[in-house]
Amino acid sequence: MKNHKALITGASSGIGLVFAKELAKEGYNVTCVARHEEKLKELVQELGGEHRYIRADLTDPKDLAKIRQDLAETKYQLLINNAGYGIYEKFNKIPLDKINNLIQLNISTLVQLSHEFIKNAAAGDALINVSSVLSLLPYPGGAVYSGTKAFVTNFTEALWYECKDKDIYVMALLPGVTDTNFHRVAIGTRNKSDPSGPSYPPEVVVKEALRCLKKRSCPSIISGPRYRFLAAITTRLLSRKRIIEIMGKDSPGMH
Ligand SMILES: NC(=O)c1ccc[n+]([C@@H]2O[C@H](COP(=O)([O-])OP(=O)(O)OC[C@H]3O[C@@H](n4cnc5c(N)ncnc54)[C@H](OP(=O)(O)O)[C@@H]3O)[C@@H](O)[C@H]2O)c1
Repeated sequence: MKNHKALITGASSGIGLVFAKELAKEGYNVTCVARHEEKLKELVQELGGEHRYIRADLTDPKDLAKIRQDLAETKYQLLINNAGYGIYEKFNKIPLDKINNLIQLNISTLVQLSHEFIKNAAAGDALINVSSVLSLLPYPGGAVYSGTKAFVTNFTEALWYECKDKDIYVMALLPGVTDTNFHRVAIGTRNKSDPSGPSYPPEVVVKEALRCLKKRSCPSIISGPRYRFLAAITTRLLSRKRIIEIMGKDSPGMH
């Protein structure tokens, strides 16, 4: 992938950071986007070469415009819309401005960056939107988060179909519980337990995503064999009512 360029949002930690390191190993020049400049600077120094970063709060319209402009001016072969977060709390306890911020980052920003990228994409280019296995499972105590991810999966899978004849590959990545900062951010300072279920390191999630990217075949991938199995049995064998009850019982946001 020499001379290929990739832009990754949310590259300062977790899944995005591992994407940056793995893509750099594969020969991509990566542009890392997030709010924490020190972490980005450290990452880019570690990667060496011609990698770069842009500090941006992707919920700030001016910063978002800066990234859209970069996508329009730099010819990227790969965009990974990975920046995102969750709030584990009952819906009526979350202030509206926080709900709006979550929707802005997880949905509006992702749509705007996807639009800018697809507009300029050529045959061979690819877009990965990071969703969640919770996009398939309603999550009481995380209703807005799982709702935003349901949007991301449906939106991205539909784009896969729209773009495939132009050989532009679009893929939704649906991680299960992954060992990153995500849960600490979602739980906040409240005294709540982590979500139950098996946890995978971000390296596993990224490895599976990159394998899928090379094959360029499926519109989405659930990462982690145990989550593929869980999603298959819950969505095929259980009623919606039963799924919601199970998800609500175990949700840290409900306690
Ligand atoms: N971990 C899981 O269990 C899990 C499961 C399913 C899906 N996911 C999804 O995976 C993606 C990555 O999350 P992660 O698990 O790697 O969590 P993470 O370690 O908390 O990483 C989140 C990344 O998003 C960036 N970010 C957050 N708000 C931002 C903003 N306003 N502007 C720009 N960047 C922002 C953060 O950087 P800064 O703080 O420096 O801005 C960070 O680099 C998310 O979309 C998440 O929903 C995670």
